[in-house]
Amino acid sequence: MRTLVLLAHPDMPSSRGNAMLAAAAHDTDGVTVHDLYTAYPDGKLDIATEQELAEAHDLIVFQFPLHWYSTPPILKQWQDEVLTFGWAYDPTGTGGSGLALKGKTLACALTTGAPESEYEAEGWNSHSVVDFLLPIAGTAGFLEMQWLEPWVLYAVWALSDDDLAEAAASYQEWLTTS
Ligand SMILES: Cc1cc2nc3c(=O)[nH]c(=O)nc-3n(C[C@H](O)[C@H](O)[C@H](O)COP(=O)(O)O)c2cc1C
Repeated sequence: MRTLVLLAHPDMPSSRGNAMLAAAAHDTDGVTVHDLYTAYPDGKLDIATEQELAEAHDLIVFQFPLHWYSTPPILKQWQDEVLTFGWAYDPTGTGGSGLALKGKTLACALTTGAPESEYEAEGWNSHSVVDFLLPIAGTAGFLEMQWLEPWVLYAVWALSDDDLAEAAASYQEWLTTS
């Protein structure tokens, strides 16, 4: 199993959660961590490189801090620009070219500010994190990829360094067993 972590944090120097998780992912056998904001400081994605990377892995993980119930913009840009017609999909359904990611797996690993209790029907946000990720699940389905339940680290601000280290170990295990 080859896993590609597409890391998207617009301000890594201030990150606690994603910084620790990315370091753990980096130290995991079979995992490639690709930091999109660092790779593309000018915001211009190299589409061919991104497609080659995606093709070379079996599990693609979007790792990010939840920002306004969504991904940071570069992950939306990645979907908009990398998942091209004729490579990632063929809406005519005639087969042939397209569906380069078919049979691979897509998942999200994300951190939040709010605690898990606020991502319930009775909580402040009224919806689960899974609900907020529905557009990405839709993309996975459209590309005939498997979709995994997200790995979520809630309320990062409330976690001690020991808590974070424990979470990073659990993230490593998830990356290797998913
Ligand atoms: C612009 C912005 C928007 C945010 N929106 C949300 C949100 O919608 N839901 C939430 O639970 N936390 C939200 N947060 C908090 C971040 O998710 C949280 O600070 C982050 O996951 C912590 O991870 P880090 O240490 O890697 O930055 C937001 C933070 C920022 C800066």
